[in-house]
Amino acid sequence: MDVFYEMGKLPPDAAVVDTVRTGTRRLEEKLRGLDVDALAISDYNKRYLREKLRSLRGSLQLNSHLLSWVLYQTGKPAAQTVLLDYGGGSGTLSLLARAIGFGTVVYNDIYEVSGADARTVGQAIGLEADAYVVGDTNDVVAAFKSRGLTCDAVVSYDVIEHVYDIEKFFREIAQLAQRRLTLVLGSGANDANPKIRRDLERQHLVVELKDREPVEGQKDRDTLRSYLSLRRELIGEHAKKIGSTGSASILDVLAARTRGMAGEDITRAVEHLKATGELPAAPRHRTNTCDPRNGNWAEHLMTADYLRGLLGREGFEGEIVPGFWPSSTNPAKEAAVLGLNSAISLLGPRGLPLAPFYVVMATHPGR
Ligand SMILES: C[S@@+](CC[C@H](N)C(=O)[O-])C[C@H]1O[C@@H](n2cnc3c(N)ncnc32)[C@H](O)[C@@H]1O
Repeated sequence: MDVFYEMGKLPPDAAVVDTVRTGTRRLEEKLRGLDVDALAISDYNKRYLREKLRSLRGSLQLNSHLLSWVLYQTGKPAAQTVLLDYGGGSGTLSLLARAIGFGTVVYNDIYEVSGADARTVGQAIGLEADAYVVGDTNDVVAAFKSRGLTCDAVVSYDVIEHVYDIEKFFREIAQLAQRRLTLVLGSGANDANPKIRRDLERQHLVVELKDREPVEGQKDRDTLRSYLSLRRELIGEHAKKIGSTGSASILDVLAARTRGMAGEDITRAVEHLKATGELPAAPRHRTNTCDPRNGNWAEHLMTADYLRGLLGREGFEGEIVPGFWPSSTNPAKEAAVLGLNSAISLLGPRGLPLAPFYVVMATHPGR
């Protein structure tokens, strides 16, 4: 099996493909020798890394796919490219970027625990990034400024569907475009794929309506409470604090209407209701919801049209393109993978309904 998706669409540049293939093989060897249990990292990232090692081929195929398109789109040699791995989690994309030979690799995550863990993993296998920036987009922009760095490309996987304010995200990421800036942002929350959409909508209803039991290696940043009941509690507390006389039933309606809001947006809605008697408009999507404390979306379903609109508004040119299915050792599944990937490659953006993930592939000309 290759380090790239079988029948997936590769950049039309053999040198780029070779560079990424060599780096991926190098990382694969290192990862196969990695003892996750011996690492001084959180249980949360141990669980994440173990999952990635269990399906190492698929995980490498995904990361090599994204980074080959990064290299092709930037049009620069890897050694001269400054790369930001946004929302890097346990840090495997940064590891691969380093193994491929990217000149500067900046890892980021909003979760402090992951920032520290990713550095530990990088050190353990001799592929440490140049910087580990913990924080949101504005912190990343500030970190590039303070280091005098100019970014060439932003890569991420399974991050944009969690970012609370996606419009602010694109606005702030565009500030990195001091020169040509490439975005390659993959997400498994593929709204165009009917099965994925159905499954995720079901998942939204579970987190919105049900309290959950902790699992081993649980992330302490996210709540296990039903999002609806937590919002109702936050609303009740704030209403009491500001002396609101709203009835319990109107506060119930407000809890339903604030689905997809977090933190101050919720308290502001309580204050607005008190001041004007007005409720916020009903949520635009029928199930999308987020953690009311930290704004982490539960797999935010966004349409390709919506994402295209955000790109255009911030001066990016690009497309929402389909991703590919990982290889399988099961012959029947592998036959299906080959068929689907061939069809996706042929169809281009129209292949999104067949794809397991989508990729925001865009370029800003720079200011
Ligand atoms: C599903 S994980 C994916 C991690 C990693 N990219 C991977 O593919 O393994 C989502 C990551 O995005 C991070 N994240 C969520 N919102 C963020 C934000 N606004 N800024 C930076 N990171 C964020 C989370 O902390 C988490 O590590």
